[in-house]
Amino acid sequence: MNSCRIAVVGATGAVGRVFLRILEERSFPASEIRVCASERSVGKRLSVNGQELVVEEATPKLLSEVDFAFISASGAVSLELAPVAKAQGALVIDDSSAFRMDPDVPLVVPEVNADDLDGHRGIVSIPNCSTTPLVMVLEPLMKVAGVRRVVVDTYQSVSGTGTAAVEELHAQSAHVLALRQAQGERDSVKPKVYPHQIAFNALPQVETFLENGYTSEEMKMLNETRKILHAPELMVSATCVRVPVAICHSEAIHIEFDRPVNPDEVRETLSAFPGVAVLDDPESSVYPMPVQAEGKDEVFVGRIRRDISHPNGIVMWVVSDNLRKGAALNALQIAEEVLSRELLVASRGRAKS
Ligand SMILES: NC(=O)c1ccc[n+]([C@@H]2O[C@H](COP(=O)([O-])OP(=O)(O)OC[C@H]3O[C@@H](n4cnc5c(N)ncnc54)[C@H](OP(=O)(O)O)[C@@H]3O)[C@@H](O)[C@H]2O)c1
Repeated sequence: MNSCRIAVVGATGAVGRVFLRILEERSFPASEIRVCASERSVGKRLSVNGQELVVEEATPKLLSEVDFAFISASGAVSLELAPVAKAQGALVIDDSSAFRMDPDVPLVVPEVNADDLDGHRGIVSIPNCSTTPLVMVLEPLMKVAGVRRVVVDTYQSVSGTGTAAVEELHAQSAHVLALRQAQGERDSVKPKVYPHQIAFNALPQVETFLENGYTSEEMKMLNETRKILHAPELMVSATCVRVPVAICHSEAIHIEFDRPVNPDEVRETLSAFPGVAVLDDPESSVYPMPVQAEGKDEVFVGRIRRDISHPNGIVMWVVSDNLRKGAALNALQIAEEVLSRELLVASRGRAKS
């Protein structure tokens, strides 16, 4: 692979920090790494590949000096910086939801739809961290039998909301335990990140409610899945729940096929798919769990069984590290794929013309 210069915008955040770690782990061929964050962090130092890097502001000049701009900050930051970086000839790999449904922007999980990168126009989006594990299991299974309908319930970790939410979970948990010891009132917990207490609780609200009663996160799972799988008719009904887990999203997925499918066929198919690992021995209490999946790259699948409520149904339990495959790892895999397909040249050529 050719070496390249990269900027990581949001390098001090939950995804950004994991991204820098994965850069090292995968020996990504970066000849130069620039780390950027908000004004608050400019001047801070981050250690990458044994080097101390100083956090900078993501100026147009800086963005003109890199080949890849990885943006993991917020939708607003992406909307501002991605067009600037693209105009300077950098290829933007964006973690936010800002461009995901833009027809000119490929939305990519490399194991599933890497070919969508061909003909990119300078911005590539990664999916929502709850969509990625879903498409990783649906893609191979759709080749076994047609999928008519999917019902998915998520159990999403607080790191999906970022660093502030992880801090809130830790602080609230300590606070609630201290209150219980002192036999105090629980309602003295003052939530900041979420609308309610997250410690020792479950919130059936991830993001904001829409007119149809679903949340924006739930609708992302439908719309992004359709785009990635090129399946505009596929029906996905999601209920997204925030749980007091630090890292890893879990999902109970109910799939209705167009014919009966044997659970062994599902196990075999998923075991053979790159990036998926089957962990399915329930009698020995072996199944995926956040504490086991944290820090790992694979999307783990277990509890694979027939759905007793439908003759063509299969149910499974899926767990994936939202900061890795759900964000940073997926972004870096896209860059690796871009390099191996020599698609960076396309970005540079377009910027010059
Ligand atoms: N967390 C996940 O599991 C996940 C998964 C998929 C996609 N994403 C997406 O990834 C993005 C980052 O999420 P996160 O969880 O890492 O959030 P986070 O922990 O809150 O981190 C946000 C990062 O953005 C930086 N930032 C804020 N304002 C900025 C600005 N004006 N210019 C440059 N940098 C700025 C922050 O810098 P300071 O430290 O200086 O504030 C920090 O580095 C979001 O768009 C999110 O939707 C997250």
